[in-house]
Amino acid sequence: MAKLIHFLLFLFIQTISAQTPAAPAGPTNITQVLEKAGQFTTFIKLLKASQIADRINSQLNNSNQGLTVFAPTDNAFSSLKAGTLNSINSQDQMQLIQFHILPTLYTISQFQTASNPLHTQAGNSDDGEYPLNVTTSGNQVNVTTGVVDTTVSNTIYSDTQLSVYQVDKVLLPMKLFGATAPAAAPAEAPAPSKPEKNVRAGAADASSGSSGSSVDASNAVSLNRKTVKGFIMTVAIIVSCLWM
Ligand SMILES: *[C@@H]1O[C@H](CO)[C@@H](O)[C@H](O)[C@H]1NC(C)=O
Ligand SMILES: *[C@@H]1O[C@H](CO)[C@@H](O)[C@H](O)[C@H]1NC(C)=O
Ligand SMILES: *[C@@H]1O[C@H](CO)[C@@H](O)[C@H](O)[C@H]1NC(C)=O
Ligand SMILES: *[C@@H]1O[C@H](CO)[C@@H](O)[C@H](O)[C@H]1NC(C)=O
Repeated sequence: MAKLIHFLLFLFIQTISAQTPAAPAGPTNITQVLEKAGQFTTFIKLLKASQIADRINSQLNNSNQGLTVFAPTDNAFSSLKAGTLNSINSQDQMQLIQFHILPTLYTISQFQTASNPLHTQAGNSDDGEYPLNVTTSGNQVNVTTGVVDTTVSNTIYSDTQLSVYQVDKVLLPMKLFGATAPAAAPAEAPAPSKPEKNVRAGAADASSGSSGSSVDASNAVSLNRKTVKGFIMTVAIIVSCLWM
């Protein structure tokens, strides 16, 4: 009889453990997600230099608010017209990066019911400002900024708080690159210096522009994980007691 109980508990633990996703060591880290995916070195540099990576990570750790990130590949950056990033000042470069981040979690299927224009961390989504529209057909998600049209080419990462999607073009916002925007015609910058330097210079201004992230320590996801973990521990202790 005792043997049978052992066996049943053993099975039970196996089942529970199998259903619990391996808890990552610590909160989600956007840099690590992108590093793991490869081909995002430029975007990572920009996120780090602007300290937006830190802000994303602390938002992921401290709030229940979801985030969606459109991550342009290295190819996307290198196929920009030379001098494009340097044609805008450091504050606008910050805005350009923020434009790739939505302060809301969108799964692919949630894009299907999203109402345009979507709100990005760059702020105002009125026409001529920072609007970002999506159109979907099945699982295909097209993104348009009014300047650039592209398609989500891959889901890099997705959990209950964060979605990261690969895009093969840098999302250029209307405000900075629209037909009437002064920055529309990037000068043939003869010596394109590293864009991240400019961003770093502007990083001090950045924190003021962040959308109010509610600091809410109670994170449902980690709480659930803890609960499940605690439960497994309890069962394990019971089993080892019975075993002896
Ligand atoms: C995120 O990961 C990067 C390296 O991948 C590391 O340098 C950074 O400290 C990490 N940030 C946090 C908040 O853990
Ligand atoms: C995550 O948040 C908790 C509680 O607010 C804090 O103690 C911890 O240091 C944070 N972890 C990281 C990696 O920022
Ligand atoms: C998405 O873009 C592709 C390529 O431009 C196009 O063929 C397709 O019809 C678009 N789909 C939707 C839903 O807009
Ligand atoms: C985005 O969608 C809104 C609402 O449908 C529309 O008014 C606007 O013209 C669209 N902008 C672009 C760039 O597609």
